[in-house]
Amino acid sequence: MISLGIECTAHTLSIGIVKDGTALSNVIDTYSGGKEGLIPRKLADHHASVFAEVLEKSVASARVSIEDIDIVSFSQGPGIGSPLSVGIAGAKYLALMHGKELVGVNHCFAHVKISEHLCKMRDPLVLYLSGGNTQILLADHDGYYNILGETLDIGIGNLFDNFARAIHMENAHGSALAKLAEGGKYVELPYSVKGMNLVFSGLLTAAEKAAKNKKIPQRDTKKDVAFSLMETAFAMTCEVTERALFLTKKRDLVLCGGVAQNRRLQQMLESMCDEDGIRFGVAPDEFNRDNGAMIAYAGSLLYKRYGALPIEKCVPITNYRIDRMKEILG
Ligand SMILES: [Fe+2]
Repeated sequence: MISLGIECTAHTLSIGIVKDGTALSNVIDTYSGGKEGLIPRKLADHHASVFAEVLEKSVASARVSIEDIDIVSFSQGPGIGSPLSVGIAGAKYLALMHGKELVGVNHCFAHVKISEHLCKMRDPLVLYLSGGNTQILLADHDGYYNILGETLDIGIGNLFDNFARAIHMENAHGSALAKLAEGGKYVELPYSVKGMNLVFSGLLTAAEKAAKNKKIPQRDTKKDVAFSLMETAFAMTCEVTERALFLTKKRDLVLCGGVAQNRRLQQMLESMCDEDGIRFGVAPDEFNRDNGAMIAYAGSLLYKRYGALPIEKCVPITNYRIDRMKEILG
């Protein structure tokens, strides 16, 4: 089966093509909001303006023609309404124009499934970390995911982006913050874990205050606070993950989502797993950032189980939590 997947939940418009579990192409175009952040109307404009080019490149690099494609999969949510609408309109156009069936995909499910597939792990505990999401997930006997623990306020990626914006970084993004944090020294910040849940907003406020503290002029305060913010957030995340591993008695852990690309986090989880005798897996960066190939892959799994989605149901579900899949599809 050849599935074309469209990712459009937030800053990224991506189209990937997957054949029987192998990514033939994965063309990604990400809008950078810079200092002003993600403005919904600008995301929608970006996706509309690059859609045709991304599609053309994706089909060309997969060396297929539109006629060869069996299904058109698209991100249905969670996400921001305006960019989702553009991606879904593109999916409907392609499907109607070329006589293809449509499949709506939960964005989080796609991150999880492509990572399980690439790490060759069946039924692991999953740690899913991105801008808006921070969740520990476990599938039930029917393959539906339950959330064992999650952030009670902001996602870990948004924590980093918000702090980067507060200290006026040109590129207010977690990856740029990680660069700034290199070589920083630890300063104490609040650590807030509640069972298997996390709270980040107090940490953000304290970090913003600490970054303005110029008491020790010879030190690079922003660097030290950036380092300490990331170390603290990752340590909190490791703690709740370890608790979930012991509770569920799982022997495999998969890390996925945009923040999964952070090398320091990978290193911390890997050493935790080594100590506990747990197998640790993380997919290559290309499949952890928002990408169309993961939507195409997850779309093919959903199509096999549920068939196509009727066109009248192809609408954005902005608050589509992964634990609503049973209610929506079942
Ligand atoms: Fe994502």
